[in-house]
Amino acid sequence: MKTRSAKNDDLRSPKGMRDLVSEEVFLFQGFLEKAAEAAIYYGFKPIETPVLEQEELFTRSVGEDTDIVSKEMFSLKTRGGDRLVLRPEGTAGVMRAYLEQGMSALPQPLMFYYGGPFFRHENPQRGRWRQFYQFGLEILGTRKSIADATIINLAKIILEEAGIKNLTFRINSLGDADCRGAFRRDLINYYRKNVRHICVDCRERLKTNPLRLLDCKQPGCIAIKAEAPESIGYLCASCKTHFKEVLEYLDSLGVNYEVDNTLVRGLDYYTRTVFEIFTESHTDDGELTSLALGGGGRYDNLAKTLNSKKEVPAVGMSLGVDRIINLPEYIRHAPRLLKKPRVFFIQLSFDAKLKSFEVIEALRHAKIPIQQSLSKDSIGAQLALAEKNGVPYTIILGQKEAMENTVIVRNMDTRSQDTIKIDKLTEYLKKIK
Ligand code: HAM
Repeated sequence: MKTRSAKNDDLRSPKGMRDLVSEEVFLFQGFLEKAAEAAIYYGFKPIETPVLEQEELFTRSVGEDTDIVSKEMFSLKTRGGDRLVLRPEGTAGVMRAYLEQGMSALPQPLMFYYGGPFFRHENPQRGRWRQFYQFGLEILGTRKSIADATIINLAKIILEEAGIKNLTFRINSLGDADCRGAFRRDLINYYRKNVRHICVDCRERLKTNPLRLLDCKQPGCIAIKAEAPESIGYLCASCKTHFKEVLEYLDSLGVNYEVDNTLVRGLDYYTRTVFEIFTESHTDDGELTSLALGGGGRYDNLAKTLNSKKEVPAVGMSLGVDRIINLPEYIRHAPRLLKKPRVFFIQLSFDAKLKSFEVIEALRHAKIPIQQSLSKDSIGAQLALAEKNGVPYTIILGQKEAMENTVIVRNMDTRSQDTIKIDKLTEYLKKIK
Protein backbone atom coordinates (compact mmCIF):
# COMPACT_ATOMS: atom_id res chain seq x y z
CA MET A 1 0.00 0.00 0.00
CA LYS A 2 1.35 3.37 -0.95
CA THR A 3 -0.62 5.78 1.28
CA ARG A 4 1.10 6.57 4.56
CA SER A 5 0.02 8.81 7.35
CA ALA A 6 2.59 11.51 7.98
CA LYS A 7 2.66 10.94 11.72
CA ASN A 8 3.74 7.34 11.16
CA ASP A 9 6.78 8.37 9.14
CA ASP A 10 9.12 7.09 11.82
CA LEU A 11 7.51 3.64 11.64
CA ARG A 12 7.98 2.85 7.98
CA SER A 13 8.57 -0.63 6.63
CA PRO A 14 12.29 -1.18 5.97
CA LYS A 15 13.66 0.31 2.75
CA GLY A 16 12.95 -1.89 -0.27
CA MET A 17 10.37 -3.96 1.64
CA ARG A 18 6.65 -3.34 1.41
CA ASP A 19 3.29 -4.44 2.71
CA LEU A 20 1.11 -6.48 0.42
CA VAL A 21 -2.55 -5.92 1.19
CA SER A 22 -5.70 -7.74 0.01
CA GLU A 23 -5.62 -7.77 -3.80
CA GLU A 24 -1.82 -7.50 -3.83
CA VAL A 25 -1.55 -10.70 -1.79
CA PHE A 26 -4.01 -12.44 -4.14
CA LEU A 27 -1.92 -11.28 -7.09
CA PHE A 28 1.18 -13.03 -5.71
CA GLN A 29 -0.75 -16.07 -4.52
CA GLY A 30 -2.46 -16.40 -7.91
CA PHE A 31 0.85 -16.54 -9.76
CA LEU A 32 2.49 -18.90 -7.27
CA GLU A 33 -0.50 -21.23 -7.31
CA LYS A 34 -0.64 -21.43 -11.11
CA ALA A 35 3.12 -21.99 -11.35
CA ALA A 36 2.98 -24.69 -8.64
CA GLU A 37 0.15 -26.40 -10.48
CA ALA A 38 2.20 -26.57 -13.70
CA ALA A 39 5.15 -27.95 -11.71
CA ILE A 40 2.98 -30.59 -10.05
CA TYR A 41 1.74 -31.78 -13.47
CA TYR A 42 5.38 -32.28 -14.46
CA GLY A 43 6.05 -34.37 -11.36
CA PHE A 44 7.64 -31.75 -9.07
CA LYS A 45 7.02 -31.85 -5.31
CA PRO A 46 6.96 -28.85 -2.97
CA ILE A 47 9.82 -27.99 -0.65
CA GLU A 48 9.96 -25.31 2.03
CA THR A 49 13.30 -24.43 3.54
CA PRO A 50 13.85 -21.90 6.35
CA VAL A 51 14.04 -18.20 5.57
CA LEU A 52 17.14 -18.03 7.77
CA GLU A 53 20.17 -20.16 6.99
CA GLN A 54 23.72 -20.26 8.26
CA GLU A 55 25.85 -17.62 6.61
CA GLU A 56 28.41 -20.21 5.62
CA LEU A 57 25.89 -21.96 3.37
CA PHE A 58 25.96 -19.01 0.99
CA THR A 59 29.62 -18.05 1.33
CA ARG A 60 30.50 -21.61 0.27
CA SER A 61 27.92 -22.06 -2.48
CA VAL A 62 27.04 -18.71 -4.05
CA GLY A 63 30.64 -17.63 -3.41
CA GLU A 64 32.40 -15.18 -1.11
CA ASP A 65 33.37 -12.81 -3.93
CA THR A 66 29.98 -12.55 -5.57
CA ASP A 67 27.90 -9.38 -5.16
CA ILE A 68 25.14 -11.38 -3.47
CA VAL A 69 27.41 -12.59 -0.68
CA SER A 70 29.89 -9.74 -0.38
CA LYS A 71 27.41 -6.86 -0.57
CA GLU A 72 23.81 -7.98 -0.45
CA MET A 73 23.18 -10.34 2.47
CA PHE A 74 21.16 -9.37 5.51
CA SER A 75 23.08 -11.09 8.27
CA LEU A 76 22.55 -11.32 12.00
CA LYS A 77 24.22 -12.84 15.01
CA THR A 78 21.97 -14.91 17.24
CA ARG A 79 22.13 -14.72 21.04
CA GLY A 80 23.96 -18.04 20.92
CA GLY A 81 26.60 -16.53 18.58
CA ASP A 82 25.54 -18.19 15.29
CA ARG A 83 25.80 -16.10 12.15
CA LEU A 84 22.59 -16.43 10.18
CA VAL A 85 21.42 -14.69 7.01
CA LEU A 86 18.05 -14.05 5.42
CA ARG A 87 18.20 -16.32 2.37
CA PRO A 88 19.25 -14.34 -0.73
CA GLU A 89 18.32 -17.26 -3.02
CA GLY A 90 16.81 -20.74 -2.80
CA THR A 91 19.13 -23.23 -4.49
CA ALA A 92 21.72 -23.53 -1.72
CA GLY A 93 19.00 -24.15 0.89
CA VAL A 94 17.39 -26.87 -1.24
CA MET A 95 20.74 -28.63 -1.69
CA ARG A 96 21.46 -28.29 2.05
CA ALA A 97 18.09 -29.89 2.80
CA TYR A 98 18.76 -32.70 0.28
CA LEU A 99 22.09 -33.52 1.92
CA GLU A 100 20.87 -33.07 5.50
CA GLN A 101 17.81 -35.27 4.94
CA GLY A 102 19.83 -38.01 3.22
CA MET A 103 17.71 -37.71 0.09
CA SER A 104 20.37 -39.40 -2.05
CA ALA A 105 18.99 -42.68 -0.65
CA LEU A 106 15.68 -42.02 -2.45
CA PRO A 107 15.04 -42.84 -6.12
CA GLN A 108 16.75 -40.14 -8.20
CA PRO A 109 16.24 -37.53 -9.42
CA LEU A 110 14.21 -35.48 -6.96
CA MET A 111 12.21 -32.65 -8.43
CA PHE A 112 11.23 -29.73 -6.22
CA TYR A 113 9.41 -26.44 -6.56
CA TYR A 114 9.23 -23.58 -4.07
CA GLY A 115 7.94 -20.05 -3.80
CA GLY A 116 8.44 -17.38 -1.20
CA PRO A 117 10.33 -14.31 -0.05
CA PHE A 118 14.06 -13.78 -0.60
CA PHE A 119 16.24 -10.93 0.63
CA ARG A 120 19.04 -8.94 -0.96
CA HIS A 121 20.42 -5.66 0.31
CA GLU A 122 20.36 -3.97 -3.10
CA ASN A 123 19.51 -0.41 -4.02
CA PRO A 124 15.75 -0.45 -4.57
CA GLN A 125 14.77 0.61 -8.09
CA ARG A 126 12.40 -0.49 -10.82
CA GLY A 127 11.90 -4.25 -10.44
CA ARG A 128 14.41 -4.48 -7.60
CA TRP A 129 13.37 -4.96 -4.01
CA ARG A 130 15.18 -5.91 -0.83
CA GLN A 131 12.43 -8.40 -0.07
CA PHE A 132 11.26 -10.02 -3.29
CA TYR A 133 9.50 -13.22 -4.28
CA GLN A 134 10.80 -16.09 -6.34
CA PHE A 135 9.24 -19.22 -7.75
CA GLY A 136 11.90 -21.88 -8.22
CA LEU A 137 12.36 -25.36 -9.67
CA GLU A 138 15.25 -27.69 -8.86
CA ILE A 139 16.02 -31.20 -10.17
CA LEU A 140 18.64 -32.97 -8.04
CA GLY A 141 20.40 -36.22 -8.75
CA THR A 142 20.80 -36.36 -12.53
CA ARG A 143 23.31 -35.19 -15.10
CA LYS A 144 20.99 -35.78 -18.01
CA SER A 145 20.44 -32.94 -20.45
CA ILE A 146 16.70 -33.59 -20.42
CA ALA A 147 16.62 -32.23 -16.87
CA ASP A 148 18.07 -28.89 -18.11
CA ALA A 149 15.51 -28.88 -20.92
CA THR A 150 12.63 -29.70 -18.53
CA ILE A 151 13.55 -26.75 -16.31
CA ILE A 152 13.82 -24.29 -19.20
CA ASN A 153 10.67 -25.58 -20.89
CA LEU A 154 8.61 -25.34 -17.71
CA ALA A 155 9.87 -21.79 -17.08
CA LYS A 156 8.72 -20.94 -20.61
CA ILE A 157 5.30 -22.55 -20.08
CA ILE A 158 4.73 -20.76 -16.76
CA LEU A 159 5.68 -17.39 -18.25
CA GLU A 160 3.63 -17.89 -21.41
CA GLU A 161 0.57 -18.93 -19.42
CA ALA A 162 1.05 -15.76 -17.38
CA GLY A 163 0.69 -13.88 -20.67
CA ILE A 164 4.32 -12.71 -20.86
CA LYS A 165 5.37 -11.85 -24.38
CA ASN A 166 8.67 -11.34 -26.18
CA LEU A 167 10.56 -13.90 -24.12
CA THR A 168 14.21 -14.52 -24.90
CA PHE A 169 16.31 -17.21 -23.27
CA ARG A 170 20.03 -16.40 -23.24
CA ILE A 171 22.02 -19.57 -22.75
CA ASN A 172 25.64 -20.55 -22.39
CA SER A 173 27.77 -23.41 -21.11
CA LEU A 174 30.52 -22.74 -18.57
CA GLY A 175 31.93 -26.25 -18.80
CA ASP A 176 32.70 -28.48 -15.85
CA ALA A 177 35.45 -28.37 -13.21
CA ASP A 178 37.95 -29.78 -15.75
CA CYS A 179 37.42 -27.59 -18.77
CA ARG A 180 36.59 -24.45 -16.81
CA GLY A 181 40.13 -24.30 -15.38
CA ALA A 182 41.78 -23.69 -18.77
CA PHE A 183 39.12 -21.16 -19.74
CA ARG A 184 39.55 -19.26 -16.47
CA ARG A 185 43.35 -19.21 -16.86
CA ASP A 186 43.19 -17.85 -20.42
CA LEU A 187 40.56 -15.31 -19.42
CA ILE A 188 42.76 -14.02 -16.59
CA ASN A 189 45.78 -13.81 -18.92
CA TYR A 190 43.77 -11.94 -21.53
CA TYR A 191 42.44 -9.40 -19.01
CA ARG A 192 45.86 -8.97 -17.39
CA LYS A 193 47.18 -7.94 -20.79
CA ASN A 194 44.33 -5.43 -21.09
CA VAL A 195 44.25 -4.29 -17.49
CA ARG A 196 44.89 -0.63 -18.41
CA HIS A 197 41.71 -0.51 -20.50
CA ILE A 198 39.23 -1.91 -17.99
CA CYS A 199 37.26 -0.16 -15.24
CA VAL A 200 38.26 -0.05 -11.56
CA ASP A 201 35.59 -2.62 -10.62
CA CYS A 202 36.86 -5.01 -13.28
CA ARG A 203 40.42 -4.69 -11.95
CA GLU A 204 39.04 -5.89 -8.65
CA ARG A 205 37.03 -8.66 -10.37
CA LEU A 206 40.21 -9.83 -12.08
CA LYS A 207 41.57 -10.64 -8.63
CA THR A 208 38.42 -11.95 -6.98
CA ASN A 209 35.93 -13.29 -9.52
CA PRO A 210 37.35 -13.27 -13.08
CA LEU A 211 34.29 -14.84 -14.76
CA ARG A 212 32.29 -11.78 -13.74
CA LEU A 213 34.56 -9.67 -15.98
CA LEU A 214 32.33 -10.80 -18.83
CA ASP A 215 29.32 -9.25 -17.13
CA CYS A 216 30.57 -5.64 -17.06
CA LYS A 217 28.36 -3.09 -18.81
CA GLN A 218 30.95 -0.25 -18.98
CA PRO A 219 31.54 0.80 -22.63
CA GLY A 220 35.34 0.38 -22.36
CA CYS A 221 34.96 -3.08 -20.85
CA ILE A 222 32.40 -4.12 -23.48
CA ALA A 223 35.00 -3.43 -26.16
CA ILE A 224 37.57 -5.58 -24.34
CA LYS A 225 35.02 -8.33 -23.80
CA ALA A 226 34.43 -8.59 -27.56
CA GLU A 227 37.87 -10.16 -28.01
CA ALA A 228 37.93 -12.19 -24.77
CA PRO A 229 38.16 -16.00 -24.78
CA GLU A 230 34.76 -17.74 -24.81
CA SER A 231 33.90 -20.64 -22.52
CA ILE A 232 32.31 -22.53 -25.44
CA GLY A 233 35.72 -22.83 -27.09
CA TYR A 234 37.08 -24.69 -24.04
CA LEU A 235 34.34 -27.27 -23.54
CA CYS A 236 35.52 -30.87 -23.20
CA ALA A 237 33.82 -33.54 -25.32
CA SER A 238 31.21 -34.49 -22.72
CA CYS A 239 30.32 -30.85 -21.90
CA LYS A 240 30.01 -30.16 -25.62
CA THR A 241 27.65 -33.11 -26.08
CA HIS A 242 25.61 -32.06 -23.06
CA PHE A 243 25.22 -28.50 -24.37
CA LYS A 244 24.41 -29.72 -27.89
CA GLU A 245 21.68 -31.97 -26.49
CA VAL A 246 20.18 -29.17 -24.40
CA LEU A 247 20.02 -26.94 -27.48
CA GLU A 248 18.47 -29.75 -29.52
CA TYR A 249 15.72 -30.15 -26.91
CA LEU A 250 15.13 -26.40 -26.91
CA ASP A 251 14.90 -26.37 -30.73
CA SER A 252 12.31 -29.11 -30.71
CA LEU A 253 10.37 -27.40 -27.88
CA GLY A 254 10.29 -24.11 -29.79
CA VAL A 255 12.14 -22.17 -27.09
CA ASN A 256 13.29 -18.80 -28.40
CA TYR A 257 16.94 -18.90 -27.27
CA GLU A 258 20.16 -17.12 -28.12
CA VAL A 259 23.54 -18.59 -27.29
CA ASP A 260 25.30 -15.82 -25.34
CA ASN A 261 28.98 -16.60 -24.83
CA THR A 262 29.39 -13.83 -22.29
CA LEU A 263 26.65 -15.08 -19.96
CA VAL A 264 28.27 -16.14 -16.67
CA ARG A 265 25.60 -15.38 -14.00
CA GLY A 266 26.33 -13.84 -10.63
CA LEU A 267 26.56 -17.01 -8.56
CA ASP A 268 29.63 -19.25 -8.32
CA TYR A 269 27.95 -22.63 -8.11
CA TYR A 270 27.18 -23.01 -11.80
CA THR A 271 28.74 -25.58 -14.09
CA ARG A 272 27.78 -26.37 -17.70
CA THR A 273 24.39 -24.86 -18.62
CA VAL A 274 23.56 -21.31 -17.51
CA PHE A 275 20.63 -19.28 -18.77
CA GLU A 276 18.68 -16.12 -18.17
CA ILE A 277 15.17 -15.23 -19.29
CA PHE A 278 14.47 -11.72 -20.55
CA THR A 279 11.53 -9.75 -21.77
CA GLU A 280 11.46 -6.30 -23.28
CA SER A 281 9.71 -3.77 -21.11
CA HIS A 282 9.22 0.00 -20.92
CA THR A 283 10.71 2.09 -18.11
CA ASP A 284 8.67 4.88 -16.49
CA ASP A 285 10.26 7.27 -19.01
CA GLY A 286 9.01 5.10 -21.87
CA GLU A 287 12.44 3.72 -22.69
CA LEU A 288 12.56 0.10 -23.92
CA THR A 289 14.83 -2.12 -21.82
CA SER A 290 15.47 -5.78 -21.20
CA LEU A 291 14.22 -7.09 -17.88
CA ALA A 292 15.53 -10.37 -16.38
CA LEU A 293 12.51 -12.39 -15.30
CA GLY A 294 14.46 -15.42 -14.20
CA GLY A 295 17.64 -17.35 -14.41
CA GLY A 296 19.21 -20.64 -13.59
CA GLY A 297 21.55 -23.38 -14.62
CA ARG A 298 23.34 -26.54 -13.66
CA TYR A 299 25.26 -26.85 -10.40
CA ASP A 300 26.93 -30.25 -10.45
CA ASN A 301 29.64 -29.29 -7.92
CA LEU A 302 27.48 -27.53 -5.33
CA ALA A 303 27.00 -30.64 -3.16
CA LYS A 304 30.78 -31.12 -2.94
CA THR A 305 31.34 -27.51 -1.89
CA LEU A 306 28.86 -28.21 0.92
CA ASN A 307 31.05 -31.12 2.08
CA SER A 308 29.10 -33.95 0.47
CA LYS A 309 31.28 -36.96 -0.26
CA LYS A 310 29.07 -37.82 -3.20
CA GLU A 311 28.50 -35.59 -6.19
CA VAL A 312 24.89 -34.53 -6.67
CA PRO A 313 24.47 -33.27 -10.23
CA ALA A 314 21.56 -30.85 -10.36
CA VAL A 315 19.89 -28.10 -12.35
CA GLY A 316 17.29 -25.44 -11.59
CA MET A 317 15.94 -21.98 -12.15
CA SER A 318 13.99 -19.28 -10.39
CA LEU A 319 11.59 -16.63 -11.59
CA GLY A 320 11.27 -13.10 -10.15
CA VAL A 321 7.58 -13.00 -9.25
CA ASP A 322 7.46 -9.25 -8.42
CA ARG A 323 8.73 -8.44 -11.91
CA ILE A 324 6.37 -10.83 -13.71
CA ILE A 325 3.15 -9.74 -12.04
CA ASN A 326 4.00 -6.08 -12.62
CA LEU A 327 4.22 -6.45 -16.40
CA PRO A 328 1.28 -4.87 -18.23
CA GLU A 329 0.54 -8.06 -20.17
CA TYR A 330 0.43 -10.25 -17.03
CA ILE A 331 -2.78 -12.31 -17.00
CA ARG A 332 -4.11 -12.24 -13.48
CA HIS A 333 -4.92 -15.66 -12.13
CA ALA A 334 -7.22 -15.61 -9.09
CA PRO A 335 -5.98 -17.94 -6.34
CA ARG A 336 -8.34 -20.79 -5.50
CA LEU A 337 -8.66 -19.35 -2.01
CA LEU A 338 -10.26 -16.20 -3.36
CA LYS A 339 -14.05 -16.32 -3.20
CA LYS A 340 -16.23 -13.70 -4.77
CA PRO A 341 -19.02 -13.08 -2.27
CA ARG A 342 -22.50 -13.05 -3.82
CA VAL A 343 -24.30 -12.19 -0.58
CA PHE A 344 -24.03 -9.34 1.87
CA PHE A 345 -25.13 -10.27 5.38
CA ILE A 346 -26.89 -7.48 7.29
CA GLN A 347 -27.45 -7.96 11.00
CA LEU A 348 -29.63 -5.56 13.01
CA SER A 349 -29.65 -5.64 16.82
CA PHE A 350 -27.50 -7.48 19.30
CA ASP A 351 -29.68 -10.60 19.22
CA ALA A 352 -29.30 -10.78 15.45
CA LYS A 353 -25.54 -10.41 15.74
CA LEU A 354 -25.49 -13.26 18.29
CA LYS A 355 -27.41 -15.44 15.84
CA SER A 356 -25.29 -14.36 12.87
CA PHE A 357 -22.37 -16.69 13.68
CA GLU A 358 -24.62 -19.73 13.26
CA VAL A 359 -25.85 -18.46 9.89
CA ILE A 360 -22.35 -17.66 8.58
CA GLU A 361 -21.09 -21.08 9.66
CA ALA A 362 -23.98 -22.81 7.84
CA LEU A 363 -23.19 -20.75 4.72
CA ARG A 364 -19.50 -21.57 4.96
CA HIS A 365 -20.25 -25.30 5.09
CA ALA A 366 -22.39 -24.81 1.99
CA LYS A 367 -19.46 -22.91 0.38
CA ILE A 368 -21.32 -19.60 0.16
CA PRO A 369 -18.94 -16.74 1.02
CA ILE A 370 -20.35 -13.54 2.45
CA GLN A 371 -19.45 -9.93 2.99
CA GLN A 372 -20.56 -8.11 6.09
CA SER A 373 -19.97 -4.98 8.09
CA LEU A 374 -19.06 -5.67 11.68
CA SER A 375 -19.24 -2.02 12.66
CA LYS A 376 -22.37 -0.64 11.00
CA ASP A 377 -25.73 -1.00 12.79
CA SER A 378 -28.33 0.75 10.61
CA ILE A 379 -30.01 -1.06 7.74
CA GLY A 380 -29.53 1.95 5.45
CA ALA A 381 -25.77 2.06 5.91
CA GLN A 382 -25.42 -1.70 5.39
CA LEU A 383 -27.67 -1.76 2.31
CA ALA A 384 -25.67 1.13 0.86
CA LEU A 385 -22.48 -0.88 1.36
CA ALA A 386 -24.01 -3.96 -0.29
CA GLU A 387 -25.06 -1.78 -3.23
CA LYS A 388 -21.59 -0.26 -3.49
CA ASN A 389 -19.95 -3.68 -3.53
CA GLY A 390 -22.26 -4.85 -6.33
CA VAL A 391 -23.44 -7.93 -4.43
CA PRO A 392 -26.60 -9.43 -6.03
CA TYR A 393 -28.28 -10.59 -2.78
CA THR A 394 -28.44 -9.43 0.81
CA ILE A 395 -29.51 -11.48 3.81
CA ILE A 396 -31.18 -9.41 6.50
CA LEU A 397 -31.38 -10.67 10.06
CA GLY A 398 -33.22 -8.40 12.49
CA GLN A 399 -34.56 -8.81 16.03
CA LYS A 400 -37.84 -10.32 14.80
CA GLU A 401 -36.15 -12.73 12.38
CA ALA A 402 -33.67 -13.82 15.06
CA MET A 403 -36.57 -14.76 17.32
CA GLU A 404 -38.36 -16.60 14.53
CA ASN A 405 -35.26 -18.33 13.20
CA THR A 406 -35.68 -16.73 9.80
CA VAL A 407 -33.85 -14.27 7.56
CA ILE A 408 -34.99 -12.00 4.75
CA VAL A 409 -33.27 -12.56 1.39
CA ARG A 410 -33.37 -9.46 -0.80
CA ASN A 411 -32.64 -9.42 -4.51
CA MET A 412 -30.64 -6.21 -4.94
CA ASP A 413 -31.68 -5.82 -8.58
CA THR A 414 -35.44 -6.32 -8.36
CA ARG A 415 -35.65 -5.34 -4.66
CA SER A 416 -38.02 -8.31 -4.12
CA GLN A 417 -37.69 -10.04 -0.74
CA ASP A 418 -38.44 -13.52 0.65
CA THR A 419 -38.52 -14.63 4.26
CA ILE A 420 -36.71 -17.94 4.64
CA LYS A 421 -36.23 -20.29 7.61
CA ILE A 422 -32.53 -20.33 8.63
CA ASP A 423 -32.30 -24.11 8.21
CA LYS A 424 -33.57 -23.76 4.62
CA LEU A 425 -31.36 -20.79 3.75
CA THR A 426 -28.44 -22.57 2.08
CA GLU A 427 -30.81 -24.66 -0.02
CA TYR A 428 -32.69 -21.52 -1.07
CA LEU A 429 -29.50 -19.61 -1.96
CA LYS A 430 -28.15 -22.50 -3.99
CA LYS A 431 -31.35 -22.57 -6.02
CA ILE A 432 -31.35 -18.87 -6.87
CA LYS A 433 -27.59 -18.73 -7.63
P1 HAM B 1 19.00 -15.01 -9.75
O1 HAM B 1 19.30 -14.72 -11.19
O2 HAM B 1 19.89 -14.38 -8.76
O3 HAM B 1 19.04 -16.59 -9.59
O4 HAM B 1 17.50 -14.61 -9.44
C1 HAM B 1 16.43 -15.07 -10.22
C2 HAM B 1 15.45 -13.95 -10.53
O5 HAM B 1 15.01 -13.36 -9.32
C3 HAM B 1 16.02 -12.78 -11.32
O6 HAM B 1 16.06 -13.05 -12.72
C4 HAM B 1 15.04 -11.68 -10.99
O7 HAM B 1 13.89 -11.77 -11.84
C5 HAM B 1 14.65 -12.02 -9.57
N1 HAM B 1 15.36 -11.11 -8.64
C6 HAM B 1 16.62 -11.21 -8.19
N2 HAM B 1 16.92 -10.20 -7.35
C7 HAM B 1 15.79 -9.44 -7.25
C8 HAM B 1 15.42 -8.26 -6.52
N3 HAM B 1 16.30 -7.65 -5.71
N4 HAM B 1 14.16 -7.76 -6.66
C9 HAM B 1 13.26 -8.38 -7.47
N5 HAM B 1 13.54 -9.50 -8.18
C10 HAM B 1 14.78 -10.03 -8.07
C11 HAM B 1 18.86 -17.26 -8.42
O8 HAM B 1 18.41 -16.76 -7.42
C12 HAM B 1 19.19 -18.73 -8.52
N6 HAM B 1 18.90 -19.36 -7.22
C13 HAM B 1 18.40 -19.40 -9.63
C14 HAM B 1 18.64 -20.88 -9.71
C15 HAM B 1 17.81 -21.85 -9.25
N7 HAM B 1 19.71 -21.46 -10.20
C16 HAM B 1 19.60 -22.78 -10.08
N8 HAM B 1 18.45 -23.02 -9.50
